[in-house]
Amino acid sequence: MKPLVVYYSWTGNTERIAKALAAELDAPLACIEEQKERRRGWGFVTGGFQAFFGIRTPIVTPDLDWDSCDPVWLGSPVWATKPAPAVRSFIDGRRWEGRTVHIFMTLADTRTKGALQRFAKILTDKGAHVQSRHAATIPMSRKLGAEEAVAEVQQWLASAADGT
Ligand SMILES: Cc1cc2nc3c(=O)[nH]c(=O)nc-3n(C[C@H](O)[C@H](O)[C@H](O)COP(=O)(O)O)c2cc1C
Repeated sequence: MKPLVVYYSWTGNTERIAKALAAELDAPLACIEEQKERRRGWGFVTGGFQAFFGIRTPIVTPDLDWDSCDPVWLGSPVWATKPAPAVRSFIDGRRWEGRTVHIFMTLADTRTKGALQRFAKILTDKGAHVQSRHAATIPMSRKLGAEEAVAEVQQWLASAADGT
């Protein structure tokens, strides 16, 4: 079994974490894409609404050998305190019973616990075991740097390994 890193990212922060993670784990990386390009501005308003009310959006299904991947490292930005709609769509389209999942999120807020809990619950309700979780806070005024992402990931992996 091989680990797999899957993520959705609109503005690039979650992608930075996902890429750093895939490099550290030497794991394949799969990107979840929305079928319809999300426009700046209006896409923010509709995205927040969709995320808050759990509305799914059509995605391009990533081509994955799902049954031979374990664990899955699944990443999402926080939208309106919840995972992004495209991630909900991805979760709906897969089987999660008995699967080990590590979740990661990026967000602007320093309060990260609630969003991680909501993300984890979506997966545990589907039978997954959420083994570790990590959130990176990045102010909306800037993007996460590539080196910063590597440091975030190394810190997460070290704490996941010693169970903290
Ligand atoms: C529609 C929308 C809603 C957001 N809602 C929140 C929120 O509730 N809390 C928060 O801390 N950040 C929120 N953010 C900020 C994003 O979580 C943050 O910028 C994240 O790093 C973006 O990830 P990405 O670059 O991978 O798309 C929101 C951003 C968008 C676009």
